[in-house]
Amino acid sequence: MATVVAFVSQKGGVGKSTLARALAREAAASGLSVKIADLDTQQGTSVDWHRIRLAAAIEPVVAAEAFGSAAQALKAADAFDLLVIDGPARTSAATLEIARSASLVVQPTGASLDDLRPAVREFHALVKAGIPVERVTFALNRIGTDAEEAAARLYLEEAGYSVLMGCLVERPAYRTAQNSGRAVTETRFAGLNARADSLIQDLIDKVTDHG
Ligand SMILES: Nc1ncnc2c1ncn2[C@@H]1O[C@H](COP(=O)(O)OP(=O)(O)OP(=O)(O)O)[C@@H](O)[C@H]1O
Ligand SMILES: [Mg+2]
Repeated sequence: MATVVAFVSQKGGVGKSTLARALAREAAASGLSVKIADLDTQQGTSVDWHRIRLAAAIEPVVAAEAFGSAAQALKAADAFDLLVIDGPARTSAATLEIARSASLVVQPTGASLDDLRPAVREFHALVKAGIPVERVTFALNRIGTDAEEAAARLYLEEAGYSVLMGCLVERPAYRTAQNSGRAVTETRFAGLNARADSLIQDLIDKVTDHG
């Protein structure tokens, strides 16, 4: 059985696809067979990214495929060590189905209260619906300063949830990389790559514990 990691959020644009690609890229680089299941059939952003990556012949190859539901994606999961679900925003029912099928559910969030409040509500809803609290975790994204990161981390931990170590800072280079089929661990800047990689490695460590 493949390990399944799902990225979910009610808010759009928080970094689900960004982190799904980076996780898949780093897992593939470490020799795991991995597929991104793009459940956002309206946008198909990870499938588009995969095509750009293939056309540019960027190694390692990271497979991505669109699926209509988590159940469909799971049917294809057995062929892989790791299935990375890139979830759609704003769909509570689909999010619960995705969460039920995942070994670990990751919700990216920004650091403002406007981001943190609905993010916590989303996890409260999943836990109320029966998802074990140990199976959900936050990833901080679009962070400006160390102080901002620390305050957001404290807020989420006080709400009862774990937060991945490290964070993604807000940088145009992360967009530029993804525009050209690269992951946020593959920008032109070694420092930015290292920061993104430490967040992803903490995620890989967590998944390995759960697997
Ligand atoms: N840390 C960052 N710095 C700069 N740009 C970022 C960062 N994280 C994400 N982005 C950019 O923000 C946009 C939204 O990110 P992404 O597509 O990963 O979010 P999403 O949660 O998958 O969105 P959706 O809900 O629409 O599926 C993308 O253009 C992405 O390149
Ligand atoms: Mg997305």
